[in-house]
Amino acid sequence: MMRNIVSGNWKSNKSITEARNWLAEMGEAMDKLPQNVRVMVAPPAPYLAVLVKEKHSRLLIASQQVSASGEGAFTGEFTADMLVSCGVDYALIGHSERRSNFGETDEIVSNKVQRCLEAGLGVVLCCGENLNERDAGIQEDVIKKQLESALNDVKEGSMKSVVIAYEPIWAIGTGRTASADQAAEMHTYIRSWLSLRFDEQTAKNTSILYGGSCKPSNAEELFAREDVDGGLIGGASLNSVDFQAIIRSFK
Ligand code: PGA
Repeated sequence: MMRNIVSGNWKSNKSITEARNWLAEMGEAMDKLPQNVRVMVAPPAPYLAVLVKEKHSRLLIASQQVSASGEGAFTGEFTADMLVSCGVDYALIGHSERRSNFGETDEIVSNKVQRCLEAGLGVVLCCGENLNERDAGIQEDVIKKQLESALNDVKEGSMKSVVIAYEPIWAIGTGRTASADQAAEMHTYIRSWLSLRFDEQTAKNTSILYGGSCKPSNAEELFAREDVDGGLIGGASLNSVDFQAIIRSFK
């Protein structure tokens, strides 16, 4: 069971040409990158099928978005089954930008998790507290509530398809990274919560990624911590050289 994962999240960035160039650069580098880490990227949805076709076999592809509904009259939505049929491996769910800008509630997050697992699509479940919550010292309560709700209907057998990404909102795109101590503390909390909610083995096998201004200069210190199994990388994943440097932070 390989817990280490580094995933890019391009958000709404890159043209298709830039995306394909990045993919080609990664393809050339891939065999030289550490083998003890799974490598993934979440490009904009219109590029998914093309990138699945052209990617290095080792690269996993994630969708940044997925419908909370099944097939039917839902204009603009795309389902977990459609993503699976295109060869997509994972979907990001509950990212703070989707929660705050697109009304993704805990209930919607939970529905999406369920849809993905039913379809056989992996889930990268994002959670994180905002600055007020951190200042009030209630970050653990916030994470607990998000996880409880999102994983409410999930059985431990399905947890092998779930990756957790801890992303403190105050660190996303702000250049302000959580310290390795702050990240480690929350990751350890999440793992102990998983152990109580499921069992110790499930907690041990679940990848818990850190996200929020993770970059080549701080990745090594973060990933060195026992419970930090890698990162969900926004800005620093756009440049393939930086992204590779982050992957090489795994010894
Ligand atoms: P960032 O974004 O690395 O640009 O802070 C991380 C994320 O939102 O997943």
